[in-house]
Amino acid sequence: MNILVTGGAGFIGSNFIIYWLKKHPQDRIVNLDALTYAGNPENLTSVDQLPNYRFVKGNICNAKLVSQLCKGIDIVVHFAAESHVDRSIKDPGVFLETNVSGTHILLKSALKNKIKRFHHISTDEVFGSLDLSENKKFNENTPYFPRSPYAASKAASDHLVLAFYHTYGLPVTITNCSNNYGPYQHPEKLIPLTITNIIENKKVPVYGDGKNIRDWLYVEDHCRAIDLVLKEGKIGETYCIGGLLKDVSNLEIIRMIFRILKKEDSLISFVKDRPGHDRKYAIDWSKIKKDLGWQPEATLEEWLTKTVEWYSKNRVWWQKLKKGQFEIYFKQQYPDL
Ligand code: NAD
Ligand code: DAU
Repeated sequence: MNILVTGGAGFIGSNFIIYWLKKHPQDRIVNLDALTYAGNPENLTSVDQLPNYRFVKGNICNAKLVSQLCKGIDIVVHFAAESHVDRSIKDPGVFLETNVSGTHILLKSALKNKIKRFHHISTDEVFGSLDLSENKKFNENTPYFPRSPYAASKAASDHLVLAFYHTYGLPVTITNCSNNYGPYQHPEKLIPLTITNIIENKKVPVYGDGKNIRDWLYVEDHCRAIDLVLKEGKIGETYCIGGLLKDVSNLEIIRMIFRILKKEDSLISFVKDRPGHDRKYAIDWSKIKKDLGWQPEATLEEWLTKTVEWYSKNRVWWQKLKKGQFEIYFKQQYPDL
């Protein structure tokens, strides 16, 4: 099988490539990634010498390049995106370019080259926000109500993917997953930022009152779910993937990390809330469980402990990312700290 992965130098994409080449060593992967601030070839040092792995530095908005790379490809797994909500609030333009136009360019090329499957990685953020008081969860039938520029751009891309299925018959599948965590996640995101700031004895920023709820999914569980959808998922269908059965607030997850690192939580610092901050996400993942037999392989406590251990052992990896441009970003994003 020949697979084109987009955004494979980012967090989930690199975990996916490592997972896939281990599980399916007979397959060939081409990884197309623009290496934005979020892309890091060091994530892939364990596979980059393999004969069945090829890296191409390039933009998914480059129609000529995308068209060349789609030749002979069986499956496209599309991760490439601008992914950070806070950055989308400051500058939405690049989110529209990559997430919407880039997806459109890929879809056109996939259609022209008669790709056997186009799998689109999307997010639960397209469904909007739940109230803290309600027990509702998002599922495959929840209407779209994106509330940040990032979420709006992902919603638009989902609509385009389904439009290519209904209008042109492109064989697509979509997964809408919740917040991932695990190795190789950029330290701009909550869990790696919290772990690395605690290790560095720096303040841990908490937006608003810290009661916002996210549904946490370990990245390897996510990769396994994508594998199942590629093999057994129904064309034209969407699958929601989440990691939890009970609600966990941001403050609770931050305090769990302090406990795992055996540190007092005095570094917690409440800062100005994110504009339009979605209060709660919760995923009903019963469809993928029932239809494909998927479920997380371990508990939040177990996966989080493994994640904390990874960041503790791989300081050189994240220390580089927290220098230079990131210091400027951090000062702008957290002026209260
Ligand atoms: P990430 O920001 O870590 O990585 C994105 C990758 O895409 C980077 O390697 C970057 O260089 C690349 N990229 C960006 N623009 C590109 C372009 N124009 N052309 C080619 N490559 C480009 O993102 P992630 O957290 O790994 O997320 C991957 C996908 O999963 C995204 O589509 C995101 O919307 C979705 N998602 C992420 C999460 C999460 O919790 N991280 C949850 C739900 C869905
Ligand atoms: O739900 C899926 C989404 O999860 C993905 O689609 C996005 O690509 C991914 O970035 C993530 O979005 P979030 O905005 O939920 O993730 P983030 O790690 O930025 O924030 C998680 C929660 O923690 C959120 O409620 C905001 C809060 N937060 C975040 C940061 C960075 C803080 O309280 N302090 C912080 O410094």
